[in-house]
Amino acid sequence: MSSILIKNGRIITADSDQHADIYIENETIKTIGINIADKADKEIDAKGMFVFPGGIDPHVHLEMPFMGTSSSDTYETGTRAALFGGTTMVIDFVLQKQGKTLYDALKEWKGRSDNNCVGDYSFHMAVTDFNEVTKNEIKDMIEKEGIVSFKTFMAYKGALMVDDRQMIGLMNEVKKHGGLINVHATNGDMIDFLIDKFHKEGKMSPLFHYLSQPEVTEAEASGRFADMINYTGCPGYIVHLTCEGALNAVRNATRRNQNLFVETCIQYLLLDASLYGNEKSGDFEGAKWVMSPPLREKKDQATLWAGINQGLVNVVATDHCPFTWEQKLLGKNDFAKIPNGHPAIEHRLELLFSEGVNKGKITIHKFVEVACTNPAKIFGMFPRKGTIAVGADADILIFDPNEKHKLSAKTHHMNVDYSAYEGWEITGKVKTVLLRGKVAIENNHCQIDKGFGKFIKRNKVTQTI
Ligand code: URP
Ligand code: ZN
Ligand code: ZN
Repeated sequence: MSSILIKNGRIITADSDQHADIYIENETIKTIGINIADKADKEIDAKGMFVFPGGIDPHVHLEMPFMGTSSSDTYETGTRAALFGGTTMVIDFVLQKQGKTLYDALKEWKGRSDNNCVGDYSFHMAVTDFNEVTKNEIKDMIEKEGIVSFKTFMAYKGALMVDDRQMIGLMNEVKKHGGLINVHATNGDMIDFLIDKFHKEGKMSPLFHYLSQPEVTEAEASGRFADMINYTGCPGYIVHLTCEGALNAVRNATRRNQNLFVETCIQYLLLDASLYGNEKSGDFEGAKWVMSPPLREKKDQATLWAGINQGLVNVVATDHCPFTWEQKLLGKNDFAKIPNGHPAIEHRLELLFSEGVNKGKITIHKFVEVACTNPAKIFGMFPRKGTIAVGADADILIFDPNEKHKLSAKTHHMNVDYSAYEGWEITGKVKTVLLRGKVAIENNHCQIDKGFGKFIKRNKVTQTI
């Protein structure tokens, strides 16, 4: 048996704030109290520190084959970088290949991830071809594999996109077995039309990635998805929502009292479309932020912060999907060939704290709610994960709210040669991270190896938030 005592910290959860000690035995929190007297193998003094639950990032893409290449973080480098940033668990995406089964895809993804993760992880299953065969696999995914969330794409036509007929069929099946549908909600046909138009006009720079996915493409698809969720009664979750139009579609849907959750990502709260340059510049620098949906306007950032406080935006994730500069250059002469995605897995919590809590945009409890607790609740892991409570996994982040530091590709741990936040000065730093009762990060070093990270089987979706 091993034990750890964390003393004198300020423990903050989604709904509580107390100065107390935490006693951990093996993987689990055993006691929370004032002046715990038990002797432990290791004692950590957390005086002056915030003690948060470990972060959960429910939207990452590690070693994902995509757009003719693969995202550059492996399961090892990605989950380790996540730990450096206080995120103890991630949910990655398995992508079914059209014409193949869900189990074929799961086998391929396990081949890359098994015994290679440093931090804990789970999978969403992306269904790209819903048919009689895949329909019959849904129950086993949920009940045998503990994969309870199914991703759908309303865009990336010809590769990942499903049509509305498949979407409705999948929703019915997933609902029957107690799962949830995630969606990339943008209108693939409209986007394809605009890409084609810009190509014909010889407009090839990263700016035209942004212009080929205007707000309406997301608002329309989000509204359509909300209607389908309402019709089928299946719980739904919109990933990486970016803009006012899309959030207003959700706002309307919530008046029908339906089960629709919303995620935004840290970049949509902090960065805007001015990074794509202007039409004349032809600058390729903007490729760093080529992602789908693209960055939006300042008014959309304001809408998203407000949406968090209104309880309409439930989760802040990253959609971490890094590509090296060399990989981004695949689209040097054509924006549609730039691999979509950006690196953020390591900085989500520190950025959200510095820009959100410190700047008075959200409370410290909202911070925990959207970054730790709601992902655990929505995706069937609460209260084992996502909070600090007796009986929960001892996934704990000890955080200095006052330490200032700079983000840079020179110091980050993600396997990518640029930072989307190069030179940003932030306040608040991850100091010590525990994963299931083991010290994972201490003194800027990772103390655990690949293989320590466990695949977490999740429960059926019954929790409301
Ligand atoms: O640009 C993005 N978002 N890349 C990853 C794939 C996806 O759509 O989430
Ligand atoms: Zn997406
Ligand atoms: Zn994604």
